[in-house]
Amino acid sequence: MDERIAAARKTLGSTTILLGHHYQRDEVIRFADYTGDSYKLALAASQTDARYLIFCGVHFMAESADVLGQPGQQVILPDLNAGCSMADMAEIGQVEECWETLLDSGIEADEIIPLTYMNSSAAIKAFCGEHGGLVCTSSNARAAFDWAFARAKQILFLPDQHLGRNTGYRMGIPLSDMAVYDPWQLNGGITPQRMRDAKIVLWKGHCSVHQRFLPEHVDNVRAKYPGIQVIVHPECRIEVCEKADAIGSTERLIKIVEAAPAGTTFAIGTEIHLVNRLAKQFEERGRKIVTLDDAGCLCTTMYRISPQHLAWALENLVEGRVVNRIQVRDDVKYWARVALDRMLEIGG
Ligand code: 13P
Ligand code: SF4
Repeated sequence: MDERIAAARKTLGSTTILLGHHYQRDEVIRFADYTGDSYKLALAASQTDARYLIFCGVHFMAESADVLGQPGQQVILPDLNAGCSMADMAEIGQVEECWETLLDSGIEADEIIPLTYMNSSAAIKAFCGEHGGLVCTSSNARAAFDWAFARAKQILFLPDQHLGRNTGYRMGIPLSDMAVYDPWQLNGGITPQRMRDAKIVLWKGHCSVHQRFLPEHVDNVRAKYPGIQVIVHPECRIEVCEKADAIGSTERLIKIVEAAPAGTTFAIGTEIHLVNRLAKQFEERGRKIVTLDDAGCLCTTMYRISPQHLAWALENLVEGRVVNRIQVRDDVKYWARVALDRMLEIGG
C-alpha cells in the first residue's frame, strides 16, 4: 500500500494535497501534506490552490473544506463511512424545531445566537450563518463565545454539550445558568422559563470517545505517577476537565507536550492514535506519555480511512476519476461559508 500510495502521489504532484487529522492512523497520516486540528485543517483548505483535496479525517471536516475551497476544487473523503457520531446527534430538522421552541418561549430572535461546533453538518453551519451565528472549533470556542455574547444575551450551543459547558464554565458562567436541550424530548425537556433564564442552551450531544474518560482516571494516574501532568480535550466531561492541569484542542495538546521540559510525564485524555503517536515521538526526547484511561478508546470513524481506501482514491484520480467527492449544495454553501468565515476572522 505504501508503495502504491507514494507512486500515485508522485504522479498527481501539486494538483493534489492530502490533509490529515491528528486522529488518523500512522500508516495514513504519514502521507499528509498538512496535519492539524479541525481549525488548522479548515484554514489550510481555505488557502490552498491545489485542484484536489484528499481529506483524511471525517465527513464534517471534508464538507467544511468544500465550503471553504475555491471554485473548481474538489474534496475527496477516501471512505464515505467516515462520519462522526457526535455530528450525527443533531439533524437540521431538529435544530429548526429547537429554534422555534426557543422563540415560542418568549426569547426574541436578536437575543440569542446559534453557535455550532465544527463537528456538525454543513446544513447546521448554514443555519447558524443565516441566523447571525457562527462556527467554532475546540481551539477558538472561547473567542466565539465572546463574539456571540458581545452581540446577544444568550447562546444556543450545538451539538456538544461538553465543549459548550466547559467553555462557559471557564468564562465564569455558573452551571445553573446553562440548560440542556434534549432533541428527543418534547420541547427539549425544559420549561419555557428555564429556556428564557439560561445564558447558554446546550444541545444534548456528546463524543462517545471522550465520554469514556472519568474523574477517577485522573485520580488513578495522579496516584500512580506523582507529579504527572493531566491534559485533556474539552469534549471530556466537566468533572474530568476540572481535575486536569490543562485542556485544549488536539493541536494545543501537542504544543503543550512539545513545550514541556524533558522528564515531564503526561496522561492525555483524547483519542488513542494521537496519544500513542505522541508517546512514541517524545520517548526519545525524555517525555513519558500514557493514556488517561487504560482502555484507550479509538475513534472508529476516523479509523475507517485505511491505506487501502487512500490508495483507491488516489489511483482513481490518476486515472482521471474523482471518487467519493464531498459536495455541499450551493444554497447551503452560501450560509455555511458565512458562518465559517466568521470563525476564521476570530482566529484559532
Ligand atoms: P480538534 O479540532 O481538537 O482536532 O478536535 C476534533 C475532534 O473531532 C475531536 O474529537
Ligand atoms: Fe467525532 Fe468523537 Fe470521533 Fe471526534 S473523536 S470525530 S467528536 S466521534
